[in-house]
Amino acid sequence: MEKVKIAVLVSGGGTNLQALMEAEARGEIPDGEISLVISNNPNAFALTRAKNFNKKTVALNKKQLGKDLFEEQLINTLKQNDIGLIVLAGFMCILSFNFTKTFANRIINVHPALIPSFCGEGYYGLRVHEKALEYGVKVSGATVHFVNEIPDGGKIIMQKAVKVLEKDTPETLQKRIMKQAEWKILPASTQKVCAMIKKELI
Ligand code: GRF
Repeated sequence: MEKVKIAVLVSGGGTNLQALMEAEARGEIPDGEISLVISNNPNAFALTRAKNFNKKTVALNKKQLGKDLFEEQLINTLKQNDIGLIVLAGFMCILSFNFTKTFANRIINVHPALIPSFCGEGYYGLRVHEKALEYGVKVSGATVHFVNEIPDGGKIIMQKAVKVLEKDTPETLQKRIMKQAEWKILPASTQKVCAMIKKELI
């Protein structure tokens, strides 16, 4: 079987996308190929990163389209490009039940905490790290999981723990978790899931 065609969905800076493209260039995703990068925000820097790696990009302006039309166009774009795995990498949109059902076991996401802590509705961006520090946890980390209709509720694929330091701010903790955990386990999980798809295990 050919490589699994991967679409990476982004909204912002795109450092996780960068980690994925660099891992692919190093030959660390042998069972998949990043064939499309889609953003809900036409101004996302992630799109520039994608173009620098000669990746095909599509910008669907969610604000202009509205939620329903946006999702309809997203589904059409994914189907037209024969996408076999959708990787959410800093994608700041909640997907509908119809969407997650259409692509069951074919969507993965990276979350910047150890699920089931500090996750679910409203837990995104710096808020996750603010809450972790407020609680006083001594370890946090990142989780890659399958996406279903429950926010951050799908089965876990990989996790990596990161120490919380006494002097951490939400910003320093966020950065360390990205560097030590997210940028490592997202490419590794992407390969793992592509291999499972190829072997028809999922
Ligand atoms: C990451 O912390 C990711 O876990 C979260 O949003 C952030 C995205 O960063 N979902 P980037 O766009 O990949 O740089």
